[in-house]
Amino acid sequence: MGKPNICRLFLVLILSYLSDRANGRVNFKEIDAKLKQLNKPAVKTIQSEDGDIIDCVDIYKQPAFDNPTLKNHVIQVKPSFDIKEEKSSTENESSKLVISQTWQRSGSCPEGTIPIRRIRREDLLRVDSIDRFGRKPREIVSKSSTTNHSYSHFPLINNTNIIPPPLVNQSVAMLFTLGSNFIGAKGDINVWNPRLSSRSQEFTTAQIFVKSGPGDVFESLESGWTVFPNLYGDRRTRFFTHWTVNSYSSTGCFDLNCDGFVHTNPQIALGAAVEPVSTQRGEQYYIPLGIYMDPTSINWWLKYGDDTPTGYWPGTLFSFLNHSSTLVEWGGRLYSPNVKKPHHHTKAGMGSRHFASASYGKACFIRNIAIVDFSMALKYPDWVGTWADEFNCYSLYNDQQTSPVFYFGGPGRNPDCL
Ligand SMILES: *[C@@H]1O[C@H](CO)[C@@H](O)[C@H](O)[C@H]1NC(C)=O
Ligand SMILES: *[C@@H]1O[C@H](CO)[C@@H](O)[C@H](O)[C@H]1NC(C)=O
Ligand SMILES: *[C@@H]1O[C@H](CO)[C@@H](O)[C@H](O)[C@H]1NC(C)=O
Ligand SMILES: *[C@@H]1O[C@H](CO)[C@@H](O)[C@H](O)[C@H]1NC(C)=O
Ligand SMILES: *[C@@H]1O[C@H](CO)[C@@H](O)[C@H](O)[C@H]1NC(C)=O
Repeated sequence: MGKPNICRLFLVLILSYLSDRANGRVNFKEIDAKLKQLNKPAVKTIQSEDGDIIDCVDIYKQPAFDNPTLKNHVIQVKPSFDIKEEKSSTENESSKLVISQTWQRSGSCPEGTIPIRRIRREDLLRVDSIDRFGRKPREIVSKSSTTNHSYSHFPLINNTNIIPPPLVNQSVAMLFTLGSNFIGAKGDINVWNPRLSSRSQEFTTAQIFVKSGPGDVFESLESGWTVFPNLYGDRRTRFFTHWTVNSYSSTGCFDLNCDGFVHTNPQIALGAAVEPVSTQRGEQYYIPLGIYMDPTSINWWLKYGDDTPTGYWPGTLFSFLNHSSTLVEWGGRLYSPNVKKPHHHTKAGMGSRHFASASYGKACFIRNIAIVDFSMALKYPDWVGTWADEFNCYSLYNDQQTSPVFYFGGPGRNPDCL
């Protein structure tokens, strides 16, 4: 590209910026107000090599305290329960624990503060709606489905095939269990960095869901890893949390982008890039994740790694998850406007981008899957079902031998998924 072309490009950019502004599409006042609300005054600031800025914020000035119902909340310093997490004897030595976050190489937060990933103006300029910044899209089920049911693997519950309504703009490959009294769930999630297509609205997750709720409105607590360029501004694999009390329609968010989650651990930042990631037939890395309700305080604790918990969702946020969970899911989701559309399927990957049948070393896995009930012991669920709604695009395989391992994922578009 010659110099005149570059000048012309600049001119076009400036003109389109000015016209956006004239049309009122970029409302800097609104953006600055949102930034002020999201970013709390820092005691110390850490510039991470990956471009993130981590603010160490006084633990009592974190976003949770903007929530009117948490105004007088006293922070619970540590859980009041002890879950016996026996190291499984079948631990595969060829897999390695990953709890490192890139920013940790550049410094640490002092006691009494928590690390918060700073949101920048450009992060808000990327999104369509500032109100919905940092949230999962609403979970909409399709009335007129174009899904080809012969491609789907629907759950069998007590020998009855359940056909869940197809979700719009997302594809799933999940293992799940139903019950009346789950108060915890865990799993070791294999870490990868799948490629997405260039479309910016797409994102992919490998995660655990703890859910409850009436009818088709659910409350959920979620954590895992994601690649989500539109939210984070890059294609790194990041540790995330999310919650909602109404199927993402008007409550909850990723990480600390709204008031709710109470963060307690000065060493772990929500939304931070994790490293290293697994490579095909190379080292396999995983994150041990657990979500456990404290039966005394009714707070739901999040554990990332084997040591100190990261923080908790206060039980007072919930109307159903203030007692127990009735549905737990493990696996992957791929969010894109270009799923379930014949001939235009996205090439975005779920898991490692390999199909589940590729198994260990190539396909993404979750293992040491367990739930907790009121006996406070971890155990594999009595009953599990699987659900993949575009099996030819994103598949699953629940390997039930010795200690069960759940594999899931796929490449999206391929000759069997157009
Ligand atoms: C453990 O690792 C080996 C490769 O070193 C693999 O063949 C095997 O399937 C793995 N087992 C489990 C349970 O992941
Ligand atoms: C659905 O998929 C099957 C192959 O599994 C194919 O035979 C059938 O024609 C497809 N139906 C539609 C409407 O695309
Ligand atoms: C399946 O059937 C058994 C026995 O009737 C029952 O206890 C269990 O709750 C059922 N499971 C589900 C998920 O409906
Ligand atoms: C949970 O919340 C609902 C609605 O706010 C309330 O009616 C119920 O008593 C609560 N349950 C517990 C165990 O706190
Ligand atoms: C699906 O995604 C497209 C493109 O982003 C959007 O226009 C549409 O509203 C979405 N549908 C639903 C039901 O969210």
